[in-house]
Amino acid sequence: MGVSMDTARTWVERWERQQRRYAVDREERFTVIADVVEHVTAGRPRPLLLDLGCGPGSLAARLVRRLPGAEVVAADMDPLLLELGRTHHADAARYVDTVIGEDGWTADLGLRRPLDAAVSTTALHYLDPATLLDTYRSLAALLRPGGVLVNGDHFPPESAPCSALTARVGRRRAERTGTHADEDWTSWWREAARDPELADLFAERERRRPAGGGGGTEALSVRRHTELLHTAGFGHVTTVWQFGDSCVLAAVKNQ
Ligand SMILES: C[S@@+](CC[C@H](N)C(=O)[O-])C[C@H]1O[C@@H](n2cnc3c(N)ncnc32)[C@H](O)[C@@H]1O
Repeated sequence: MGVSMDTARTWVERWERQQRRYAVDREERFTVIADVVEHVTAGRPRPLLLDLGCGPGSLAARLVRRLPGAEVVAADMDPLLLELGRTHHADAARYVDTVIGEDGWTADLGLRRPLDAAVSTTALHYLDPATLLDTYRSLAALLRPGGVLVNGDHFPPESAPCSALTARVGRRRAERTGTHADEDWTSWWREAARDPELADLFAERERRRPAGGGGGTEALSVRRHTELLHTAGFGHVTTVWQFGDSCVLAAVKNQ
């Protein structure tokens, strides 16, 4: 079920433009995540990093460019996106096919030492609050003392007037940078499904699709994430960057 280098490059490049439409200042957000990871792993010769919901390896690729000594494990449940990452960003990470939050997912990762950092972009909002709490607990157990979880995602404020403001600021920024006109999610998936080289991977995706359509996509506020992170055992939680409702939240495990 492999794909050629050319096909993988085409669809990963289109993925990058498509995702820019949804994550305000996506590139800066990746850079900020790398800043945090660099700080926490300073002086460690081969930091171990985990990218949760890696898609085709976008964040993993940027992290290894910034931290060439790092070992990255990149986890996702989508066979198509994983194959694009394995082909186009082959050297960036060891890709693991697993459903985050399901029984046994941490064993699937095949980790042989504690993590220095777990990172994620635009992925953890797919988990419902109970699964998210379980996942945060698992990550607290996998990280070394002083290790960090860095999550870049949508974190809309709970108050409706405030979330209207953050949504508007994000939309205005997207209009100024032109990313609002990029290809959207639906178009990317529709067009990719027309590529004969991806047919087997689409069949595999379809075969795995849970009956009933799968889990929800609830975006929780920073306050709710902070609460869950504290409950899971992270002593220190802070927002390190925000534009509109796109934030980077960092949670440090106690020393
Ligand atoms: C919007 S994409 C973002 C991908 C990538 N992090 C990026 O920034 O381009 C969300 C990703 O999360 C993955 N995902 C969502 N829920 C997941 C779960 N429970 N286990 C594994 N992957 C999951 C999806 O398959 C998808 O690749």
